[in-house]
Amino acid sequence: MSTSTQPKQTFLVLGATGGCGLNFIIKSLREGHSISALVRTPTKLTTLLKENNLSDSHLKNLTIVQGNSKSPASMTQALLLNGQLVDMIVSGIGAVPKMKGLKPTIEDPTICADTMTCLFNALRTIRESNLAEYRRPILVGISTTGISEYGRDLPLLMVPVYHLLAAVPHEDKKLMEKMIKTEGSKEDSLLNGWVIVRASFMSLGTKEVGVENLKVGIEENGRPIPRESWGWTVSRKDVGNWIYAELVLDKSGKRQRYLNRCVGITA
Ligand SMILES: NC(=O)c1ccc[n+]([C@@H]2O[C@H](COP(=O)([O-])OP(=O)(O)OC[C@H]3O[C@@H](n4cnc5c(N)ncnc54)[C@H](OP(=O)(O)O)[C@@H]3O)[C@@H](O)[C@H]2O)c1
Repeated sequence: MSTSTQPKQTFLVLGATGGCGLNFIIKSLREGHSISALVRTPTKLTTLLKENNLSDSHLKNLTIVQGNSKSPASMTQALLLNGQLVDMIVSGIGAVPKMKGLKPTIEDPTICADTMTCLFNALRTIRESNLAEYRRPILVGISTTGISEYGRDLPLLMVPVYHLLAAVPHEDKKLMEKMIKTEGSKEDSLLNGWVIVRASFMSLGTKEVGVENLKVGIEENGRPIPRESWGWTVSRKDVGNWIYAELVLDKSGKRQRYLNRCVGITA
């Protein structure tokens, strides 16, 4: 049962079966908001939600669209809930690792940028058609530390680690960030604002510390996230919960400060 008196909102979640998106969905459904989730495998999402003890009454506010985040038709369908454009889009889309023979590789090295292309095209289609009244949504894109154009924003030892493990996905994230910023800065932008959430390393065993204990820093005035907000790891649950607490509930009253900024979060 929802305990919040907040006005109920509608969210499209991309990457709903990843830990960050999933935990954002869990919080949102428990508080009575409505979710549209664009997923490749619906049963994967419903199983994860059931494992997290979401009841049928929570799940009644979940609409699942089966599809690929590169499919314009699926994206357009997922953006509309009960005939209305969603209030906010949260993207936790990321490249999925896989094995090619004995060699580790990634499934789709440009998935984040391709998803943004598809998302913006779908939003444009909705704006230019009679599909729904166009009320510009906010876009939250989950990205990573270690890719700032203004300098280092993480401990020195993480630089070679990321170089070895994540050079290709990081190029994709850079492109995604650039596309979000470019769209957001247009006079006739499709968006009512954006937040790029730069999470630090999300290793599997990382324990959550709770939203109030996270270190949060803003990249601004040509400077990277301040050193006091640098860190090593963060849990996926903390990332999803932080997005809900700060960007939906505005718990610490800083949502406006985060809007149209890159924000680093770490434990
Ligand atoms: N790993 C790290 O240390 C780290 C650090 C900072 C930021 N990040 C980034 O943070 C974001 C969220 O991470 P996460 O761990 O919550 O998620 P994740 O485990 O990276 O999962 C990626 C999500 O994207 C979905 N996806 C991939 N390709 C898709 C496609 N073509 N169509 C539809 N869905 C697709 C996957 O769905 P399926 O279930 O269908 O595969 C999954 O839900 C990701 O962008 C990740 O790269 C990761």
